[in-house]
Amino acid sequence: MSVHSSPVASEPRGELASRIVAMPANINPSGDIFGGWIMSVMDVSGGITAARIAAGRVVTVAVSRMVFMQPVKVGDVVCCYTALNRTGRSSITLDVEVWVLRHGQEPRFKVTEAEIVYVAVDAAGRPRPVSAETAPR
Ligand SMILES: CC(C)(COP(=O)(O)OP(=O)(O)OC[C@H]1O[C@@H](n2cnc3c(N)ncnc32)[C@H](O)[C@@H]1OP(=O)(O)O)[C@@H](O)C(=O)NCCC(=O)NCCS
Repeated sequence: MSVHSSPVASEPRGELASRIVAMPANINPSGDIFGGWIMSVMDVSGGITAARIAAGRVVTVAVSRMVFMQPVKVGDVVCCYTALNRTGRSSITLDVEVWVLRHGQEPRFKVTEAEIVYVAVDAAGRPRPVSAETAPR
């Protein structure tokens, strides 16, 4: 199925983890925003949510189901939403959605989504259990 023919939810899932304006410094040679920058924003935004759930340091271990549905333009307000999919012993799996407001104006629409897995780690970078108190099950 084409990404253009996929049904698109009209509302973001999860919490608003970050908002940032897409700047000219982040364009690709075609003049749209570079996908790698969007991926970086998604990773950082998911990391904020995962670190809260893990009550401490996390690292990114896997990214999957990354789909770029529509281009992001300079001046778009890029809003990153995170929703908890599951927690394991040390892992936290989030759905991360990017929605934009063209030049900050409605309507808001989804441009990118992915699933990102984070792992709670100790000071030495070794996996540690996700706290049962902070992690929703
Ligand atoms: C993340 C890391 C600490 C895991 O170490 P590890 O030796 O694989 O540890 P484990 O086998 O105990 O796995 C830990 C958890 O990660 C999960 N995991 C490991 N590899 C995974 C993968 N490819 N996809 C999804 N989950 C994965 C495991 O399922 C496990 O989850 P659980 O504890 O909830 O059951 C290690 O791989 C690492 O340091 N990676 C680099 C992270 C990093 O630098 N990220 C930034 C990249 S720029």
